[in-house]
Amino acid sequence: MLNKAVNTLSIKPPKLRRVCVLTGGGDAPGLNAVLRAFVKTADSLGIETWGSQNAFDGLIQGDRLVLLTPDSVRGILHLGGSILGCSNRGNPFKYPTEDNQGRILTPDVSGRVLSCIKDKHFDALVLIGGDGTMAIGQSMMDLGVPIIGIPKTIDNDLAATDVTFGFDTAVGTATWALDKLHSTAEAHDRVLVVELMGRHAGWLALCAGIAGGADVVAIPELPYDIERVVEKIEMRARHGRKFSLVVVGEGAYPKGGTHSSIKDASPGLVERLAGAGKVMAEQLGSRISHEVRVTVLGHLQRGGSPSPFDRILATRFGAAAAHLCAEGTVGKMVTLRGQNIVPVPIAEALQAPHAVDLEGELVGAARDVGIELGG
Ligand code: F6P
Repeated sequence: MLNKAVNTLSIKPPKLRRVCVLTGGGDAPGLNAVLRAFVKTADSLGIETWGSQNAFDGLIQGDRLVLLTPDSVRGILHLGGSILGCSNRGNPFKYPTEDNQGRILTPDVSGRVLSCIKDKHFDALVLIGGDGTMAIGQSMMDLGVPIIGIPKTIDNDLAATDVTFGFDTAVGTATWALDKLHSTAEAHDRVLVVELMGRHAGWLALCAGIAGGADVVAIPELPYDIERVVEKIEMRARHGRKFSLVVVGEGAYPKGGTHSSIKDASPGLVERLAGAGKVMAEQLGSRISHEVRVTVLGHLQRGGSPSPFDRILATRFGAAAAHLCAEGTVGKMVTLRGQNIVPVPIAEALQAPHAVDLEGELVGAARDVGIELGG
């Protein structure tokens, strides 16, 4: 009886009662797992969750908002993509809009987001995204909007958290691809260059390269010396291994060069990295006698079912974010620090991107097993 009374008294009403969640930036495996965990936990804490479709588009357009209940997130834990849809092209502060002459302008439509938040009586926005989404969140906070962040990206380049969800699955997919490419490279005595995503961070290339037994890994943090790559391939050939697997992060570039990207990106769109594998292959092609081929793994790395690690991390992040809402703690992003989920100011996520430490143990282990990093 006494216990029951204590339990009843300990239930506090949530500080935030109605929140809107969105999935910003490129998709990453685990988005649905986060949504499921957030909605279920929020519901149990008495918080109503709405979802903005296609990242900020739902809030900007005002009519693409859906009520999320435990029923609407049932059966989605293992699914890739996002039931809300994603966009990395809808920054409300620079919203790409076509005028009547077909020109793309980037007006600030953040006022429409503010009106929508007010009309719908949202107490806070919960942003699931990477650095771009968190930067928008910070600007929204400057306008007085309470924000809670959840870190996502296959690139693992977000500051403040040891790891983002989505990364582990992407490493798994890239490793699976490298295993397959390994056998065909060996069968044909070819040098296979494999371009992986990751933007300006080499986490995906380095981790998949280690897990997939790559001979060379080029990462953006360390511009590569092509002669070292050539020497590695030729040294392998001298020892009877006439094939090589060369992993290239999409942001990697040769010493004295610059990263390859699609230059004609329209206003308001993010820069698209492309061509790093081709550059590596061209440089090798003019120096070695092997047949060199390129595979660009592309969006395969973003799709598919999240790994158990990502499902668990996403679930922990989603549940922790809902508890922040219940406590009324805003301006924070949940992070993984060691074994713990720790909320930190969103501003911390906007510090210098999380880059591979060239002096760190991971790079040391790659070198120890003979991976040539080109520098
Ligand atoms: O940030 C995730 C990511 O997949 C990067 O690795 C890649 O550079 C970028 O998004 C590609 O974006 P998009 O699909 O818009 O071309």
